[in-house]
Amino acid sequence: MILGLETSCDDTSVAIVDGAGHVLAQVSANQDTQHRPFGGVVPEVASRQHTENLIPIIEQAMSEAKASWSSIEAIAVTSRPGLIGSLLVGVVTAKALSMAKKIPIVDVNHIEGHLLASLLRDSTYAPPDGFDFPYVGLAVSGGHSHLFEVRGPGKYRLLGKTIDDAAGEAFDKFAKMLRLGFPGGVAVDRLAQTGNPKAYKFPRPLIHENNLDFSFSGLKTAALREIEKTPPAELDSRKADLAASYQEAIVDVLINKLVKAARGLNIKRWTITGGVSANSSLRSQAEAAAKKEGALLAMPPLRYCTDNAAMIAYAGLLKFRAGLVADQELSPSSSSLPDDWLNS
Ligand code: KG4
Ligand code: ZN
Repeated sequence: MILGLETSCDDTSVAIVDGAGHVLAQVSANQDTQHRPFGGVVPEVASRQHTENLIPIIEQAMSEAKASWSSIEAIAVTSRPGLIGSLLVGVVTAKALSMAKKIPIVDVNHIEGHLLASLLRDSTYAPPDGFDFPYVGLAVSGGHSHLFEVRGPGKYRLLGKTIDDAAGEAFDKFAKMLRLGFPGGVAVDRLAQTGNPKAYKFPRPLIHENNLDFSFSGLKTAALREIEKTPPAELDSRKADLAASYQEAIVDVLINKLVKAARGLNIKRWTITGGVSANSSLRSQAEAAAKKEGALLAMPPLRYCTDNAAMIAYAGLLKFRAGLVADQELSPSSSSLPDDWLNS
C-alpha cells in the first residue's frame, strides 16, 4: 500500500492505494469556507488549515483502509508546484513519518498526479478498456492549464501551457466580475446552462496560432468590457448569456488545442483532469470531439479530478516501483523542476 499526501494549495487530502492502483481510502478537507470571505485562496490561511487538518485526516484514512504502518511501503507527497507554505506542511509531515516509521518517501509533482489520475480504480470507476500509455493529457484547474504527451511513468513531454491565467482562474475571475461567489467555476457552469453561447462573440485567444499554448487574459478583459458596457438594470437578464458565451470560448480553445495535439502525435487516447474538467460543457464537447476523432477518452470522476491525494499516491506507486525515492533532503518548490518534463 502507498500513502499519499496532497497539500499543495487549499485542499488537504490523504489517500491509500494498493499495488493495482485501487483507491482503498481517500479523505479530504476542503477550505472553501475559510477562503470565501477573501474571494480567493489566502496562502497563510491555507497552510494553517493544512497544519490543523493533516494528522487527523491521515489517521482517518489509515483506519478506513484498515491499514497498519507496517503495510505502508512508501509515503508519496506532493512537493511541487504550489503554494510554498502549503507544500511545506505535506513535505515536513511526510519526512517526519518516514523517519519515525522507517518508510521511504516518494516526491511527486502535482501536475504529474493530475496526468495519472485517469488510471486510478475503485468500486465505481476504472479507465476505459484499452486506455494506457501513451496518451495526451490536458490538466486544467485553478492553478494550471497544461497539455502533455504522457509516454509512461515519469515520462511527460510538455506540449503547451497557459501563458497567463489558468482556465479555472479565468472562470473564477469572471465569476467575481458578476459576483457569483468563490470558487466561481461551478456557478458559471450552472448559469451558462440557461444562456445562449452565441449571444456574445468573445475572442478565442491563440486558437489559430501554430502552438499548443493557451491564453485567457484577453478573454477576461473582453468580458469585463461587455459587463461594463451593459446598463446595470439589464445585467441580471444578460448574466446567463454572458456566462454561456464566456464558457464556450474557454471550452472551444481547450478542445481545439487538445485535438490539435492528438492529431499531431497521432495518439488516440486522451485524458482531461483538474477541477475545470467538472465543467459540463467541457465534458460534453470533449466526448463529442473524441467520438469524431475515434479517440478513447478518460475523464475520471470529480473526486480524482479536483486536487486529491489518490492521484499522488498512484504517481508515488509508479515512481516507487521505478526506484525513484527521495530522502530527508527533500524540500518543497513552488514551481516544477527542469527534470520533471522531457525535452523531446
Ligand atoms: O483542481 P482544483 O480543485 O484545484 C486547483 O488545483 O486549482 O480546481 C479548482 C478550479 C477552480 O478554478 C474552479 O472554479 C474550477 O476548478 N471548477 C470549474 C468547475 N468546477 C470547478 N470550472 C468550470 N466549471 C466547473 N463546473
Ligand atoms: Zn491541481
